[in-house]
Amino acid sequence: MAAEQDFTKRKLWGGRFTGSTDPLMHEFNQSLKYDQRMYAADVKGSIAFSKALLKAGIVNEHEQAEITRGLKEVEQEWANGTFAIQADDEDIHTANERRLSEIVGKDIGGKLHTGRSRNDQVATDMRIWLLDETAKVEGYLKDFLNVLVSRAEKEVDAILPGYTHLQRAQPVRWSHVLLSHASAFLNDLTRLREMVPRISVLPLGSAALAGNPYGLDRELLRQELGFQSIGENSMHAVSDRDFIIEWLQWASLLMIHMSRLAEDLIIYSTAEFGFVQLADAYSTGSSIMPQKKNPDSLELLRGKSGRIFGQMAGFMMSVKGIPSTYNKDLQEDKEPLFDGVDSVSASLRIAEGVIATLNINADKMAEALSMDLLATDIADYLVRKGVPFRETHHISGRSVALAEQRKVQISDLTMEDWKALSPHFTEDVFEVFNFENSVEKRNAIGGPARKMIQRQVDVARERIAGKN
Ligand code: ARG
Repeated sequence: MAAEQDFTKRKLWGGRFTGSTDPLMHEFNQSLKYDQRMYAADVKGSIAFSKALLKAGIVNEHEQAEITRGLKEVEQEWANGTFAIQADDEDIHTANERRLSEIVGKDIGGKLHTGRSRNDQVATDMRIWLLDETAKVEGYLKDFLNVLVSRAEKEVDAILPGYTHLQRAQPVRWSHVLLSHASAFLNDLTRLREMVPRISVLPLGSAALAGNPYGLDRELLRQELGFQSIGENSMHAVSDRDFIIEWLQWASLLMIHMSRLAEDLIIYSTAEFGFVQLADAYSTGSSIMPQKKNPDSLELLRGKSGRIFGQMAGFMMSVKGIPSTYNKDLQEDKEPLFDGVDSVSASLRIAEGVIATLNINADKMAEALSMDLLATDIADYLVRKGVPFRETHHISGRSVALAEQRKVQISDLTMEDWKALSPHFTEDVFEVFNFENSVEKRNAIGGPARKMIQRQVDVARERIAGKN
C-alpha cells in the first residue's frame, strides 16, 4: 500500500491527493500506450511554449535553451525507441515533462508548464499531429487520383455497358467509369483542403479553460507552430473536438466512395463479367479451392468503410451530452482518430496499387454490349427526324419487343420491319448499330465522347494540382 501511496504522490498532479490510485484505475486512465505517437507534436508545442515563456519573462535565455535541449533529447529518445516509460507516466504530456525534468533538472523543467494546462496542450498536440497527417493523406489521395486519371486517359478505346439498377443501360467508355469514381474522390480532395483552416486553429495559451494570466504572446505561438489562426475563446479552445469529428466524417464519405469503387470492381472481376482482372499482388487464393482468386484487397476496402463510419459514430456518441470545456471523455478522441487516419491512409495506398496494376479485358467488355443497349439511340434517331421523344420511346420499345419475340437482336430487324414500326425509318437506321458512334454522339460536357473524356482528364489534373 505504501508503494501505491508513493505512486500517486509522484504524479504531476499528486499534491492534493492523500489516497492512492487504484491500479486498475491507473491503467484505465492511462493514454500513453496510444498517445505516444504524438511525441513529436508534444515536443514541438512545448518548445514553442518555452519561447512564449521567455518573452513573458517566466524563464530566462539559459532556461529556455535548456528546455529546448532537454525536449530535443526527449524527442530523440522516442525516435530511437530508448524512451524509458515509467509506471506512473499517464500520457505523452506528463511523460515528456517528467523526462525533461530528469534531463535538465526540476528547477528548470518545472517552469515549462507555467500558464499552460494539459487541456490546451493536448488540443494543440492533436491539431499539430492531424495537420501533419492530413498533408500525408492529401498526398496519398492525389497519387491515387493520378492513377485513376492516367488509366482513363490511356484506355479510352474500351467500351462497356453502363449500368443502372445493375441492369445493362447504355454503352459508355471504360474511361468514363473510372472518371466517375475520380469525380467523387476529387470532391473529397477539395473537402480535405477546405478542412485545413478549421484544424489549423491554435488552442495553446488558453490554459485549463480561463486563459493564462501571464500575457503569453499567442501570436508568437501561432507563428512558431504555423497555425493559420488563434482560438478566440479559451473555453471553446480546450473543448473543441469538432475538427476530429469533421475529419472522421470526411473520411466516412471518402470510404463510401471507396466502397462503391470496390464493389464495381468486384462485380466486374467475376467470371460472369470478366471485364477486369486483379493483379496477383492484390488478390489471394483459397485454402481449399485451387481455382480461386479472391479480390481481398477490394473486399477490405469495402469493409473498412464500415469501420471508419463506426469510429466517427462512436466518438460522436462519446462527446454527446458532456458539459462545457474539458472532460476526460475527450481523451476518447484519440483511438478513433488514429485508427481512422491509419485506415484511410492504408486504404488509399492499397486502392492506388489495385488500380495501377489492374488488367482490363476490352474484348469481354465488348462482348457484353448487346444491341438493345442502343434502343435509346433508335429513339434519338427518330427525334432527329422530327418525331416527339415520347413517341420515339414507344416505337423503339416496340422494336425491342419485336426482336425479343423473334429471338434476334434489334440490329437484325429488316428495313421492312422498321418501316412497319414508323415511316420515318430509312436505310441509315443501320448506322445506329455502332457502339463507338453511340458514345461519340454523347459529346456534350460530361458525356463519354473522346473529346469529353479528355476534357475530364484535363479538369481533373487541374483540380489535383489545386488550380481550381
Ligand atoms: N491525456 C489527456 C487527454 O488526452 C490529456 C488532458 C488531461 N487533462 C486533464 N485535465 N486531466 O485528454
